[in-house]
Amino acid sequence: MQISTYRLPEDVPVHFCMNKTAVVIDVLRATTTIVTALRNGARSVVPVAEVEEAVELSRNFAPEDRVLAGERMALQIDGFDLSNSPLEFTGERVGGKTVFLTTTNGTRAIQGTQAAETLIGALVNASATGQYAARRERDLVLICAGTLGHFSLEDTLAAGAIIHAIKEIDPSAETDDFSLASLLLYQHCDTEKKMHHLLDQTEHYRRLKDLGLIGDLEHCMKQDSMPLLAGYEDGSVSIIHE
Ligand code: MLT
Repeated sequence: MQISTYRLPEDVPVHFCMNKTAVVIDVLRATTTIVTALRNGARSVVPVAEVEEAVELSRNFAPEDRVLAGERMALQIDGFDLSNSPLEFTGERVGGKTVFLTTTNGTRAIQGTQAAETLIGALVNASATGQYAARRERDLVLICAGTLGHFSLEDTLAAGAIIHAIKEIDPSAETDDFSLASLLLYQHCDTEKKMHHLLDQTEHYRRLKDLGLIGDLEHCMKQDSMPLLAGYEDGSVSIIHE
């Protein structure tokens, strides 16, 4: 099994994922939010790149069956039901509903991925995702969403956590250099406390902290707190295995 990791979706060569499993990672906060919504009973999450597209698609559902959610500049979009804060995606708000989610980087990265199978990865489901990938024995591509075309350390950390889980099952799994760098970063920083300490020096973490979203940051760093497998197929994300 060969593991490749990309620091941004635009770095992935065209057609590279075609016969592989891809994992899209946006720890702060899109993929954590998706996993949280599913964990709290959302029927599915539809990741959408544009605001207008999210509104249009949601209109195909009755108001009581849909939730319109998302952010621009990390803030809730006017007229939407929820922002991109995972803490808002409670059972009460999303249980039994289809969530239409648009975010600046994460949902765009998911929509753009063309792989044999696409999974949604975050720190909260890192080990479950890695264990599944190891048993699947198909070449794996980890795609970090980044922030507006810039590398994001928190996504690399989650890639490392996923690779760590794979290596525990399949030590012979081969890594490219960026996968190895991600693994080393994670091994250097494998507790919540160390992660917060490191990420407190990074751009998007600090942006969310400055907005007072400390609860979101704590939730997003809780490794393996929601050990479910989320898969993207035919335009929506649902639970593959819990
Ligand atoms: C994104 O997709 O850009 C992020 O999830 C931004 C955010 O923190 O809301």
